[in-house]
Amino acid sequence: MSELVRPRRHHHTARPSGFMAWLRARRSELEYQAWVEEFTSQLRGVFREACQFTGLCHYISAAAGLTVRTPRVGNVVLGPPVSLTVELMPGQEPEDFRAPGQRIAHTLGGHGLRIERLSTRWLRLVLLDADPLGDPFPLPDVVVASGRESLLLGRGEDGTSLGHGIADAAHIAVQGQNGSGKSAFCYALLAQLAAADDVLIAGSDITGLLLGRAWGDTLHREWQTVGTRDLEAHALMLEALVAEMDRRLDTIPQRCDKVTATSATPTVLVVLEEFPGLLRAAASHPKPKSGKSLVERIVLAQLRLLSEGRKAAFRVLTLAQRFEATAVGGGYARDQFALRLSFRVPADSLVMLHGDEARPLGQEHAGAAPGIAYLSAPGRDCERIRVPYLGSYGEYCDRIARHGLTARVVDEEAAA
Ligand SMILES: Nc1ncnc2c1ncn2[C@@H]1O[C@H](COP(=O)(O)OP(=O)(O)OP(=O)(O)O)[C@@H](O)[C@H]1O
Ligand SMILES: [Mg+2]
Repeated sequence: MSELVRPRRHHHTARPSGFMAWLRARRSELEYQAWVEEFTSQLRGVFREACQFTGLCHYISAAAGLTVRTPRVGNVVLGPPVSLTVELMPGQEPEDFRAPGQRIAHTLGGHGLRIERLSTRWLRLVLLDADPLGDPFPLPDVVVASGRESLLLGRGEDGTSLGHGIADAAHIAVQGQNGSGKSAFCYALLAQLAAADDVLIAGSDITGLLLGRAWGDTLHREWQTVGTRDLEAHALMLEALVAEMDRRLDTIPQRCDKVTATSATPTVLVVLEEFPGLLRAAASHPKPKSGKSLVERIVLAQLRLLSEGRKAAFRVLTLAQRFEATAVGGGYARDQFALRLSFRVPADSLVMLHGDEARPLGQEHAGAAPGIAYLSAPGRDCERIRVPYLGSYGEYCDRIARHGLTARVVDEEAAA
């Protein structure tokens, strides 16, 4: 198969004048039209073969034997970017094109495929020349005033922004190899949240970079435990959070089935930076003669926050290089995370967190640049995004110092 080359008009520098110039221009126009026709027909053929190879086809058995039906191509637009309208076959949905999209795009000579629904039965497939997530995406200096407002999570391949409200009942799992951008993503998330009056940013961070010193004089700081010198302090802090959760669950007002966050009872975001590392460090702690080990205490507190916290306005944000069940407190704990992000990870880790639908994406994502992630959430397809970037660590510290909440305006009526 010869490579598909998008036809380009030959631009004449001088305006045609005289009969010979007119003839040259006319011939060049006819050549261009023939090129367009050949390209369009080749594109249709190659698209058909790609659909067949990737399983986007129906096999129909007829008297003459087995025939293959592929989605019908309507219009081909040269663009750039090249796009084609496609009629879905019975039983097909636009989502069916997502997983094989990149294979089809590569076959057609592009980088990726953007899928746009035109009507119930018609799609537009746009062939992207370059990775739309190739460029860094700086985080503007914005903060939310309340956890109910949407945080900027990232930008999808079609350029649309993705948001998430921390007050939404979802725990967040973030996995990625060394240097893939997990912490930087959380810098961007926490910097947006630092000023929200009805949010408390608590948690455990053995690295002491995401939480801790950067939060200096803010009122979040006293709920953050950092470092590895005093590992029991991490268990004690998580247990104190569980006690607060229990207190809230005991005092849920009548006729309510959940706590509504206010400045008096803020949404508590429990950040667990490098959680498997915390468990590993805790495992080397001497075991007590009786009672639970430090690891058991930490795992239990996390599990309780994960399983019961949603109703009490607790949200857990756990970071791990690999979200293996054993590394994050068991399969049940892992199942509690509704919002899941994977930065660069080996293909098997991607499938482990996002399920089988992510399998075709695995190979490419294993080499993803920092800041590029797959995101999945209930009712949302697994989607490739670029997360916003704050720049240097110093900038993170500056934003927390500038916006971090130092006092709450308590609404007496809501508190009562
Ligand atoms: N969104 C981004 N855009 C561009 N570059 C990024 C982005 N996120 C991270 N980087 C670059 O990648 C580097 C590593 O990022 P980060 O420290 O967040 O990785 P990590 O996944 O937390 O790694 P570790 O497991 O070692 O903690 C950053 O110092 C930065 O240079
Ligand atoms: Mg990190």
